[in-house]
Amino acid sequence: MMNEKVSALLNDQINKELYSAYLYLDMANFYAGQGLDGFANWYEIQAREEQDHAMLMYKYLHNNDQAVTLEAIAKPDKVYKTLMDPLKAAHAHEQYVTGLINAIYDAAQEARDHRTVQFLDWFIKEQGEEEANSSGLIRKMELFGDDAKALYMLNSELAGRVYSAPSLKL
Ligand code: FEO
Repeated sequence: MMNEKVSALLNDQINKELYSAYLYLDMANFYAGQGLDGFANWYEIQAREEQDHAMLMYKYLHNNDQAVTLEAIAKPDKVYKTLMDPLKAAHAHEQYVTGLINAIYDAAQEARDHRTVQFLDWFIKEQGEEEANSSGLIRKMELFGDDAKALYMLNSELAGRVYSAPSLKL
């Protein structure tokens, strides 16, 4: 049997990942409204990845005979005034999620739940990539955001992001 605390934290994280998806869809929505389809594409794909994260946890719990409880997903109510605002909010959010994943990892280690520790290894690495991506975008916007041509190029670059399913198989 999985440790109760570890199971509850993973169950709660499903909701957090789905909220992340909703938050990123709202950022895509903001950029689409600004006419920046590349930025919108970036965050649409980000939203899909977050749904994948939720589904990996959902399936992992079921594979381990754990009941899953789905709770309400909060409304994404951040207000964005500048093109930089979502980028900074996204980075802060990823840092927050890294803390959540680390806390589940700690609980799994404490419970000597090696299977969950191994499952979470993928998420630990993924968070490193997520934070690198989100801080990289802030840096690019700082460098190029004030120049219309450079912003156009950046938007074109982000339009090229293609969705790929997570490498983690259960
Ligand atoms: Fe599911 Fe962006 O971490």
